[in-house]
Formats: sequence, C-alpha cells, structure tokens
Amino acid sequence: MDIFGPSKKMSMGHDLLKGKRGIIFGALDEKSIAWKVAEKAHEEGAIFTLTNAPVAMRMGAINRLADATNSELIPADATSNEDLKELFSKSMEVLGGPLDFVLHSIGMSPNVRKRKEYTGLNYDWYHKTLDISAMSFHRVLSIAMKMDALNEWASVLALSYIAAQRVFPDYNDMADAKALLEAITRNFGYQYGSAKKVRINTISQSPTVTTAGTGVKGFDSFMSFAESMSPLGNATADECANYCVMMFSDFTRKVTMQNLFHDGGFSYTGVSQGLMERFSPEQE
Ligand SMILES: NC(=O)c1ccc[n+]([C@@H]2O[C@H](COP(=O)([O-])OP(=O)(O)OC[C@H]3O[C@@H](n4cnc5c(N)ncnc54)[C@H](O)[C@@H]3O)[C@@H](O)[C@H]2O)c1
Repeated sequence: MDIFGPSKKMSMGHDLLKGKRGIIFGALDEKSIAWKVAEKAHEEGAIFTLTNAPVAMRMGAINRLADATNSELIPADATSNEDLKELFSKSMEVLGGPLDFVLHSIGMSPNVRKRKEYTGLNYDWYHKTLDISAMSFHRVLSIAMKMDALNEWASVLALSYIAAQRVFPDYNDMADAKALLEAITRNFGYQYGSAKKVRINTISQSPTVTTAGTGVKGFDSFMSFAESMSPLGNATADECANYCVMMFSDFTRKVTMQNLFHDGGFSYTGVSQGLMERFSPEQE
C-alpha cells in the first residue's frame, strides 16, 4: 500500500526553483552537464528555455530533453549579439516575464580539437576559443543587462576548470579562456550586483566524461589522477547539477563574484596518500 495515500504522490524534487524562469545554454547530449542541470531544474519546479549553437541543435538529441522538460528550444550562437538578443526576448515571451537564472555551459577550442601545442597556437583559433568559451559570457550578461532581462536576485552561473589557477598543460588555450571567464565573473558580478542585485558565479568542476571533456588530450589519465587526488572522489555531472540548482535557489542569495570549487577536495589537496605510495621506494 502507498503510505502517502492515493492523492499524495511523492514529488521527486523539493520545489527549490518553483516559480523561477531561466535559460540553459549548452545541452548537447545526455552526458552534457547542462543536460543534467535541465533535468534537475525541471524536477525542482523551474521553467526555462534551452539553447545551443544552431549546428549543435541539428544533431537532434536536445529535442528529447525539450520534450522531457516541456521546454522550448531557441537556437543561438553564443558569439552573436543578434542571436542572444533574440534568445532573451523570445525566452521572456515564452516564459512570461524576466528571468531568475541563466546557465552558461559552453566551451570549445579549435586548438584543442586540432591538437595544436600551446606554444604554437593558431591565433585565429585562439580568438575563437576565447570568444566562444569566455567572451560569450560577457555578451550574455551585457545583453541581459541592456534588455533588463533579469529579475533582482537572479543567479547566473558559468562552468570553469581549475586550469584557470594551476597549470594542466594539455588543457591548452582553454586554460586562458577559463581565467578570462572567471575574471568576467568578478568584474560583471560587481557591476550587475550593484546595479540590480544580480549574482554571478562560476562553478569549477572536476573532470567529467562529456564531449567537451573527453576532447582534451590524455583525458582518461587526467580523470584517474584527479580521482586519486580528491578525498571525496571526482564530482559527477549529476552532482554538479545539484550544486547549480542550489546556486539558482534563494538559499544562496549573498553568494556572488566567486569561483566555487566543486571537485571533491582536489583544489586544496597537495598530495594524497595513495599517490605518495605510488612514488615510495618500495614500489620501484
Ligand atoms: N567535462 C569536463 O571535464 C569539464 C570540467 C570543468 C568544466 N567544464 C565546462 O563545462 C561546460 C560544459 O561542458 P560539458 O563538459 O558539459 O561538455 P559539452 O560538450 O556537452 O558542452 C559544451 C557545449 O558548448 C556548446 N557550444 C560550443 N560552441 C558554442 C557556440 N558558439 N554557441 C553556443 N554553444 C556552443 C556545445 O554545443 C555544447 O553543447 C564547459 O564550459 C566546460 O568547459 C567541463
């Protein structure tokens, strides 16, 4: 027998985002961090539009996510001001008013894709990396501000990686993009916070098996290294989505301009016991 009785179905979520409207950038397939965020935000009662670059939308997987979360799909290249304006105005129209959260989950480096070494970057591609992976965040924020598309206490998040602070050679020019992304977060966070109490943060996530993640050279060894250096183990995409939901909720209203490590403790671990043992003389 159902202990909640026939009329009291147990809800999957906690209504943390009930009544909130948002935009989620960057769901490409089931593995994408943005995909998991969309599922959790839906579970928590949010309504939102989904967006990605037109070319990524053609792959089609995102249609399933749109159906599952009752969301409208609005294509937008994050490097185009025109596309972003259209995205914000359509989203407000479809959702019925200004927005309470935005997830920027976008990253791409032609230099990484084409295996260019950091010391010999192709500069056209370097521009692209910075434009798509970092400056797009500035565009999103600037356009939202000009259109007054965000409510007071709205929460805007982008996803980062610890290569912004420390050297991970194979992360290549994406490391520079993440450093810029985090700088934009602080500088715009100040401006938008003072002007309209909008909060802006980055979540610095563990290596995660996704299309963007596995594109980085040596990703598998990278992932095992991070696992062995994190007392709680690597954070998964699902766990990252939970953190995003919390950051979109009203429980984190005074958190802004931060880079928030979500990495099982990796960022503050100098060395782990397991790794020390691998280098001890008895092993040789
Ligand atoms: N996977 C990891 O190991 C990891 C770790 C830390 C941070 N991140 C960051 O998380 C974010 C999401 O990546 P993911 O791992 O879910 O991979 P993903 O490949 O699923 O997502 C990247 C998204 O960026 C989109 N994109 C690329 N160019 C675009 C453009 N011009 N306009 C709009 N969208 C565009 C892609 O279509 C894709 O949906 C990225 O910022 C990434 O750097 C990933």
